[in-house]
Amino acid sequence: MTEPFSRQVEVSALFESRGHREALARLMLMVENRYLGLLTGEVGSGKSTLIRRLFQSLDAKLYHPVYIARSNLKPRDFYGELLRQVGEVPPFALPKAKQLWTEALEARREQGDKALAVVVDEAQEMSETMLGELRFVVGHQMDSCSLFPLILVGQSELRRILRLKKYEAIAQRMPLRYHLSGLDSEETAQYIRHQMSAAGLTTPVFSESALIQVHAGSQGIPRLINQICTQGLYDATQRGHEVIEESHIMRVLADYDRQRGAS
Ligand SMILES: Nc1ncnc2c1ncn2[C@@H]1O[C@H](COP(=O)(O)OP(=O)(O)OP(=O)(O)O)[C@@H](O)[C@H]1O
Ligand SMILES: [Mg+2]
Repeated sequence: MTEPFSRQVEVSALFESRGHREALARLMLMVENRYLGLLTGEVGSGKSTLIRRLFQSLDAKLYHPVYIARSNLKPRDFYGELLRQVGEVPPFALPKAKQLWTEALEARREQGDKALAVVVDEAQEMSETMLGELRFVVGHQMDSCSLFPLILVGQSELRRILRLKKYEAIAQRMPLRYHLSGLDSEETAQYIRHQMSAAGLTTPVFSESALIQVHAGSQGIPRLINQICTQGLYDATQRGHEVIEESHIMRVLADYDRQRGAS
């Protein structure tokens, strides 16, 4: 038996909600059209998981996926990582790195190399200079299509940042966006059943009213659902219950509230 609400889920065993399906379809479009794209969502809603899924769905003969996740990402880190990915040693000086990157990109296009599909995760943590640099990254002359697909992924705060006047030029160059919300109550119940059956577990069973409480306590955010269900399962197993009732989940949620209040 595997732990049903564990953190790292195999891509093949992922749950697919309507939102996840729609987000994935848009991410594919962003890659195929070489857009500067935006995926935002609540903390723990499944953004990074979706990117794992996207990378697995891309045709490996056509795309070279690049995943960058770093707090306070600066242009030097960004170009450095891209250059390493194409087999170049990044020079220390930023103008040199940019020049080398432009040349490398041109050479790759001429040779018909695989397209890079670049994702910057935790993009709400990007440095201001990196946000400003995006205009250069996507190419000055083009309105929406860039030299390679670049997808920014971040928490809801990123939407607020991109609404600022100073980023208007870059925000206008993002023709495709998606915001991932929590699962609705029906999907939350499906998600929980999916996780239980993927782990090969038939008991304990979550009662209908317990499922409603999990949704209320998590707002359908998968990471929170996992936490609540793990605790609920543990409590039920300790007490030898076959059914997880509403009262069990209420107790778990009250515990969380107490812990939050105490911290
Ligand atoms: N489609 C899914 N199927 C199964 N589990 C999922 C799915 N999406 C998310 N999860 C679960 O929720 C957890 C949180 O997801 P993830 O790390 O992708 O969220 P996030 O939106 O990137 O969060 P953050 O804002 O903190 O970066 C995952 O570790 C996984 O256990
Ligand atoms: Mg994430």
